[in-house]
Amino acid sequence: MKVSRPIILLFLSLVSYAADVERKDFLPLSLESDAFFEQFNETWASRWKPSHSKRDENFVYRGEWDVEEPTVNPGLKGDKGLVAKTEAAHHAISARLPTPFDNTNNTLVLQYEVKLQKGLECGGAYIKLLSQEGGVSDSVEFSNDTPYQVMFGPDKCGMSNKVHFILRRKNPKTGEYEEKHLKVPPMARIVKTSTLYTLIIKPNQDFEIRINGEVAKAGSLLDSRYFDLTPPKEIDDPNDEKPADWVDDELIPDPNAVKPEDWDEDAPYLIPDPNAVKPEDWDEDAEAYIPDPDAVKPEYWDEEEDGEWIAPKIPNPACEQHGCGPWSAPKIRNPDYKGKWTPELIENPDYKGPWSPRKIPNPEYYEDPTPSNLEPIGALGFELWTMTDSIMFDNIYLGHSIEEAEYIGNNTFLPKVEIEEQIAAANAPQAKYDAEEPEKQIEEQSLVSDLLDKSVDRVLKVYASGKAYWADLLDDPTKTLLNRPGEAFFFASVVVGTITTTFAISATIVSIFATLFAPSTPQPVKRSEAKERIESVKEKATASDSKVNETEAVKRG
Ligand SMILES: *[C@@H]1O[C@H](CO)[C@@H](O)[C@H](O)[C@H]1NC(C)=O
Ligand SMILES: *[C@@H]1O[C@H](CO)[C@@H](O)[C@H](O)[C@H]1NC(C)=O
Ligand SMILES: *[C@@H]1O[C@H](CO)[C@@H](O)[C@H](O)[C@H]1NC(C)=O
Repeated sequence: MKVSRPIILLFLSLVSYAADVERKDFLPLSLESDAFFEQFNETWASRWKPSHSKRDENFVYRGEWDVEEPTVNPGLKGDKGLVAKTEAAHHAISARLPTPFDNTNNTLVLQYEVKLQKGLECGGAYIKLLSQEGGVSDSVEFSNDTPYQVMFGPDKCGMSNKVHFILRRKNPKTGEYEEKHLKVPPMARIVKTSTLYTLIIKPNQDFEIRINGEVAKAGSLLDSRYFDLTPPKEIDDPNDEKPADWVDDELIPDPNAVKPEDWDEDAPYLIPDPNAVKPEDWDEDAEAYIPDPDAVKPEYWDEEEDGEWIAPKIPNPACEQHGCGPWSAPKIRNPDYKGKWTPELIENPDYKGPWSPRKIPNPEYYEDPTPSNLEPIGALGFELWTMTDSIMFDNIYLGHSIEEAEYIGNNTFLPKVEIEEQIAAANAPQAKYDAEEPEKQIEEQSLVSDLLDKSVDRVLKVYASGKAYWADLLDDPTKTLLNRPGEAFFFASVVVGTITTTFAISATIVSIFATLFAPSTPQPVKRSEAKERIESVKEKATASDSKVNETEAVKRG
């Protein structure tokens, strides 16, 4: 049934909308500790400083930032977040910490929410913990050049998708900082609801990455399966050279081998099949082509000028039945073919094994036994390039307590994402349907149902955003109307349009019915006829009256 799909969708959407999603109010959360915790309340701008740093003409941080409520899958009512607003742009914004964050011999917990309101085609959504030394200041704007200690969070472009975890460590031998990447990072969640990313670095050098509270990766910073923090202890000696007499051929041709007497190197690969016989009807004397017997010398042909006329040739029709011309046997593989003779390979008695240079201590080697001890952190922020705008960040935590981060997650992220997911599901009956019956849809795919789906989706979308707008309008009519007059006009037109269309359709239906069932145009009636009609109507009425009386009488017994 091709039409069942749109009907199911419509049904699902009606059910979803009937079960209205209740959006609870946002309540700010306060912590007992003095850890950094940002919920983007009205004083956010006093803490956060957008950067419009310019490295050169092609590398300008022109991305704009704003703090606003989500436009996609809204969660708690009144819950605002920081949003990267500009598509295909470099964005940077940072917040200075009231006091530098020091995690020497202490746990570091960094946690924040990412909401990819328009998905993520190609762009970053990671956070950086900026070094106190050389970091952002009143005079230095945040940019790609700002030294950082930790970079953590989603980064996606096309097929590449990872949750970065990068430590920036100083090489004491060279004095240079080097980026140390987690070797196999987990994948970022590309969804239009909030995702909670948590990074834990413990003083015992263990680390943990959690996504929505679940451990996505854990190990030790010192384990080479996860990080190569330091250069190798030993390196190949660049001055060691392979001795000229070093034998590294494992096999050699047998020096004692002799070519067998009967080995004919010149025997051809193919020979004529000695068993082939010329077919009996093969005619070696017949010509493969003969002059066309039907050809006629053209009228204009002048033998004196054009020479003797010769009829054009055609394939000899006789040769269609049997072969013509000289016969030769078909070729077959020569059983005596051997090709070039080579002696057999034997183990080389002088073989010494593969040569490798001598190892020497690496002059650049250093130890980094406590990479969990970062340099003091003076600020944190986002420094990204993204194709996709509307990335929202919220509930940023930097502290020393895993429990505190969990407490934040339990009280901000969990209640929020629950509402977001309900709204996302209600707005996407199609997604629900797709997930539930993947096999069934395949047979149902058709151009018509696809078109219908699209229209249903569109109507649902307009309906959902109209409902959200109506809720805001009831909440705060002046602000909503003043700030978003375009939407008011749009939804008003939709409502008026719908009412008009409904009226027009009803009117059409009524008039069709009227035409079908109306008696033909009444003709002027003569007085006597009129009287007769009245009489007959009266008679009928009395008849039915008496019937009613009869039945009443029967009932009463
Ligand atoms: C806003 O957030 C900051 C940082 O968390 C906090 O110090 C401040 O008290 C909050 N202000 C209000 C009015 O809630
Ligand atoms: C950190 O711990 C190490 C080893 O226990 C100790 O030697 C060092 O003094 C400690 N550093 C601080 C700043 O407490
Ligand atoms: C967070 O919620 C989980 C599940 O309800 C609970 O086990 C945990 O103790 C909570 N943590 C905090 C710090 O509130």
